[in-house]
Amino acid sequence: MGFSMSVLVFSMLVFTPLCYSEYLNPQFYARSCPKAQEIVRSVVANAVARETRMAASLLRLHFHDCFVKGCDASLLLDSSGTIISEKGSLPNNNSARGFEVIDAIKSALEKECPQTVSCADILAIAARDSTVLAGGPYWNVPLGRRDSTGASLSGSNNNIPAPINTLPTIITKFKLVGLNTVDLVTLSGSHTIGFSRCTSFRQRLYNQTGNGQPDPTLDQSYAAQLRSGCPRSGGDNNLFPLDRVTPAKFDNHYFKNIVGAKGLLNSDEILFTKSQTTMELVKTYAENNNLFIDQFAKSMIKMGNISPLTGSRGEIRKNCRRINT
Ligand code: HEM
Repeated sequence: MGFSMSVLVFSMLVFTPLCYSEYLNPQFYARSCPKAQEIVRSVVANAVARETRMAASLLRLHFHDCFVKGCDASLLLDSSGTIISEKGSLPNNNSARGFEVIDAIKSALEKECPQTVSCADILAIAARDSTVLAGGPYWNVPLGRRDSTGASLSGSNNNIPAPINTLPTIITKFKLVGLNTVDLVTLSGSHTIGFSRCTSFRQRLYNQTGNGQPDPTLDQSYAAQLRSGCPRSGGDNNLFPLDRVTPAKFDNHYFKNIVGAKGLLNSDEILFTKSQTTMELVKTYAENNNLFIDQFAKSMIKMGNISPLTGSRGEIRKNCRRINT
């Protein structure tokens, strides 16, 4: 064997296992838990059959997990000992939901293959399955994430974009986790399904700029309709579909609504009104559903790759709500 060949073989032997542990891969549980994906899919399908909205809620959980310390299931931890749960943060409190479905998936997986499938991977697979059940794209989910042993309430409050953030702030929050404006516009397309509470968009209806006037970029008859269910005070938790036309179907109506000044959240409408680049992409998606669907799968994989714990970092929790003792 020549010198260069032996160097190659040596480096493969030494470095390969390390390299593999660094990367996520869709086959991660092929041997250790071959039924993992089937189990997740069946629990998610039952939950969505019971309540259509659950698809949206599960999709959002993966987002709120990944934007805080990476996709490490930190979102799922309940408060205990030194851990202060992210569930109490502004974006999550009275809003993030679906935790019982994740518990049900985890307990089914623990029966099949104990301490093998991470809670972070469960969130990623459940988000994909939810998208598919709502009529959106399928993608192979890269797997092998491990679970955190801590949570970050401040990270949850600061890193997850708020509906009242300006477009530059939202762009920055995406950039901080390695996502660009294409990912921002595309992933905002998740708002093609699911609901928002009145409290998340009230300001647009009554006092957008502090001058006692509604948001001029919101269609005025749609605004009037929204005001009837979202009064100046009270009714904070009243629910409204994020996509008024096809609220349970994963399609590009969200983008068509925005073009027609009928996006529900301020953070939705500003994609069309505050920057030429994002505006053009909103228009493109409004005209071409396939482009949106294809890019959505790509951007979801990118989001799912945010700082995973791999190799021997983190742990495989037995219960998604608690770190192992
Ligand atoms: C771009 C910045 C974003 C902002 C400011 C934002 C904000 C919001 C707000 C305020 C709600 C309603 C929450 C409530 O009132 O309870 C919501 C719902 C939702 N968001 Fe976002 N979001 C953003 C991006 C995303 C992304 C990237 C995803 C997924 C990849 C996503 C998925 C969802 C889903 C599916 C719902 C409906 C949840 C349900 O019905 O339970 N959002 N979002």
